[in-house]
Order: sequence, then structure tokens, then C-alpha cells
Amino acid sequence: MNPPPAWWVPVAAAGDLRAAIPLAARAFGEDLVLWRAGDAASPGGPSAPSVFTDRCPHRGARLSRGQVQGGQLECPYHGWRFDAAGRTVGIPSLPDFTPPETHRACAWQAMEAHGLVWVALVSTPRAAPHGPDLLQAAEGLAALPSRRVLCGPFDVATSAPRVVENFLDTAHFGFVHEGFLGSRDQLAVPDYRVEHDDLGRPRVPLYRAWQPRASESASGGAWVDYTYRLLGPWSALLTKKAEGAAPSEAYALWCNPLEEEATRVWFTICTDDQTLSDEALRDFQTTIFRQDAPVLESQRPRRLPLSGGELHCAADRLSVAYRRWLLTLPAAFGTC
Ligand code: FES
Ligand SMILES: [Fe+2]
Repeated sequence: MNPPPAWWVPVAAAGDLRAAIPLAARAFGEDLVLWRAGDAASPGGPSAPSVFTDRCPHRGARLSRGQVQGGQLECPYHGWRFDAAGRTVGIPSLPDFTPPETHRACAWQAMEAHGLVWVALVSTPRAAPHGPDLLQAAEGLAALPSRRVLCGPFDVATSAPRVVENFLDTAHFGFVHEGFLGSRDQLAVPDYRVEHDDLGRPRVPLYRAWQPRASESASGGAWVDYTYRLLGPWSALLTKKAEGAAPSEAYALWCNPLEEEATRVWFTICTDDQTLSDEALRDFQTTIFRQDAPVLESQRPRRLPLSGGELHCAADRLSVAYRRWLLTLPAAFGTC
């Protein structure tokens, strides 16, 4: 297996961690437990999430089967208790013993952003993960339409880079999303230009497509102006604006690489629309992703080949730029 890289990845919807109940999650093949020392009813309000490897350092029981008591995570087996930083703070079988500093659960860096809990598999309190991280990505997100709807999770049996490449691919619209994002009458991919930002991330400043039904708010076929950009190795953003008075929209794709060949996906829908319900917006995106999923799961190899083995055409220049960019990163997870 490729080494788990030190990148921020989403592992759960933040709303699912509202009560002080531990939650099991997974990233890069590692079982994780998420928990909060305090919830909304606590004097200081909800605490920042803590993320540990889901394995008690005493005898290896799953900490996610335990409970949160008085701001501490209690193991379900012998009741050892851990504070939010992972330090052992109580051993019930030895009530007079003060555990040394070195008695610790394996704690990772965690943060909340875009309605999701994110983890970077580097030990606290070491330096922040390197690379084009979430905060740099968030800079551009602030300017997007302010209504935000989180959509997912969707589990898909393929690598995260395959999911990202599919998100960047427009040549499949007329086949996979016929009647929604594309039409068999309009299969040609127009000429478009790929640029790179100052972090080397590929982006497309303008891509025009004719779409029968570009979004839930679309009333009929229209020309739609797209932009695409990579935010990180497993996250990307598209913006779309149909001609006329249609609302501006953006879709952020956030992949949780569960395993090299298994991925959990969320989308953040950003829209100016104020008439449709959150449910209607989610239903449209769910329909689109359910059209993508069977094709994604059929692709072999499941890992994205970076060193040949697949044919490209000029219409694929964005996905080729994505593959080339991945080759420059210490982020080989899900590639071959
Ligand atoms: S295995 Fe967790 S307290 Fe013993
Ligand atoms: Fe698609």
C-alpha cells in the first residue's frame, strides 16, 4: 500500500458528531474514532472534534464502542479514559495510579470545515500538513454563492482519483447523463484551455457546454459556462452559470479515501437559488451521482494509472493535467 499521506481529508459530516457519542470512521485504510469532549449542551458549547486511531493502546479494543464521560473518552473494555489530546487520564483498575505522559491513544490532527470533520494523519502537535491544504482551498470558496447544502455521503468501490477524474470529465455527459448534463446531439467537447495556479493545481477558466437540464433549478436546455479547478489531490470545484437569469452554482467534491480502492464522497452545493428546498437540491445531485457510480465501479484498474496503460484524446486534456499534477505530489494513494 502507498504510504498514508499527510493531507486533510473529510471523514464525517460534522452534524453527525453533535452528541458526545463516539463515531467510527476510516481514512487511508486506518480505522478512526471521532468524538467531542463537549456537546452543544456543555457549558463551553460543542468542543472541537478529536480523532484517534480506533484502537485502545491497552489491549486493542475499538474505542468507538466506548462512551464519552465528563469530557473524556472511555474504552469499553477496561474503562481507561483519554482526554481530547489522547492522554490517558484514568485507569479504573488502579485508581491511585497517575499514568505517565507516554500513556497515550494515537491522536491525529482534526478540524471542522464546510460542514465536515477533516483529519490529517500526522500526530499532534506536529506541524500542519504540507501542500495545498484546506485553508488555501477555503480562500476561494468564500466568494461562492452563500447558500450551502451538504450532499452525501456516497460510498463507491473505486479509488478517490478515479472519482475526481470523473468529476473533471465532460465527454461522458451525453452518454451517462443524457437528458440532464448532456445530449447525444451535442457530444463534441469544445476547445478549452488548462491553466495551472501558483500551487501547480490545474484549472479550466472557461468551458462552455449545452445542457438539457444543468441543475435542479434549470427550466430547460441552455448554454452553461463552467470553470473547473483542483483544490487538492482528492477534491475539486466546478462553478456553472447558465445563460439568462439562472442562479450561479458551484459544486465542491470532497473525497474521503477509505482504502486505495474504496471512497466516500460528499458534495457541497453552493447556489444563489432561494426557492428550491435543500432536499430538491440534494435529490438532483444524488440522481447525477447514481448515474456516475456504476461506470466508476466498472473501471479497471480501480486505481488511476499515472504511468500509461490508457489512451487519451485531446478532449481529455484536463484529466491528463490532473494525472500529471498527481505525479508531482507525495500523494500516490489510489494510483498505480
Ligand atoms: S483495552 Fe481499552 S481499557 Fe483495556
Ligand atoms: Fe458524471
